[in-house]
Amino acid sequence: MDLPYRPRRLRTSPIMRAHVRETHLHPSQLILPVFVREGAQEPRAISSMPGVVQHSMDSLKHAATEAVELGLGGFMIFGVPTTLDATGSGLVAEDGVLNQALCAVRAEVGDDILVMADLCLDEFTDHGHCGVLDDRGRVDNDATLALYAQAAVAQAEAGAHVLGPSGMMDGQVGVIRTALDEAGFIDTSVLAYSVKYASAFYGPFREAVDSSLTGDRKTYQMDPANRREAMRELELDLDEGADMVMVKPAMSYLDMVREVADHSPVPVSAYQISGEYSMIQAAAANGWIDRRAAIQESLLSIRRAGADTVLTYFATEAARWWREENGVA
Ligand code: PBG
Repeated sequence: MDLPYRPRRLRTSPIMRAHVRETHLHPSQLILPVFVREGAQEPRAISSMPGVVQHSMDSLKHAATEAVELGLGGFMIFGVPTTLDATGSGLVAEDGVLNQALCAVRAEVGDDILVMADLCLDEFTDHGHCGVLDDRGRVDNDATLALYAQAAVAQAEAGAHVLGPSGMMDGQVGVIRTALDEAGFIDTSVLAYSVKYASAFYGPFREAVDSSLTGDRKTYQMDPANRREAMRELELDLDEGADMVMVKPAMSYLDMVREVADHSPVPVSAYQISGEYSMIQAAAANGWIDRRAAIQESLLSIRRAGADTVLTYFATEAARWWREENGVA
């Protein structure tokens, strides 16, 4: 055959493939989401997320040290409190489990990894919604914002480098930025969950945080059918001062990761969520896919779609593989 172009030439050997590889995954780009349970003496397994635990304060600190040793970029903490109430007061309280954990972890790791805080009420409210409810039981946007502002200052005081507002309330990034600046926390950054869809794939997470939610979050999280609306959310969060923006979930929304990456002037993150994690774990446990290859491919494809950074429950393992493959002891 007289073929002038043979793309296969660039695939002939491992060294050639490595030479022309367009996308790379580095531990510094990974963020490990972790759960800490109030009062726990031992880490507790989460049955819907095999391999992930609800940490005790001690095991959380250990996980943070390990994340530093592996060179991860971020450590995103979610709190699992033992007492809940209508306004989620444990989120703001200085002795709330998340603020305590932020404080303990920051003391342990200093500035060697970005200590990140989930900033949302759902783990702390007895009704499980991401905001407070009005007298008719609807999520009250503006009343919620006032609590987010207080929580932001509490989390910054506890030592968080980065706050991750995940509640999808209108105006949340703006009130958080203003509250931080007024309290003097001008260097605390906001990783905005700008494009967060109401996804069925959050299922396993709800067990991870012992969620008390009945119903759904469709009045605040985005409709999975919508694409244009994501640009609106992005624009608003940028105007309100987001330092980084996120698309969530990642794998069913790679088109949105690309779309946001093409338009965002700030770094873009994507969250490989609990259901995405558990599907891979389940298929691998059944011997249906090659676990390591599937995990690496999933993370690389999120990067290829345009994410600068990736939140993933596989972060520790992926970093270990990276070290192995790159000859780092
Ligand atoms: C809510 C929140 C959720 C996740 C992170 N923050 C769940 C939800 O919106 O119901 C999901 C993370 C995951 O599924 O891994 N504040």
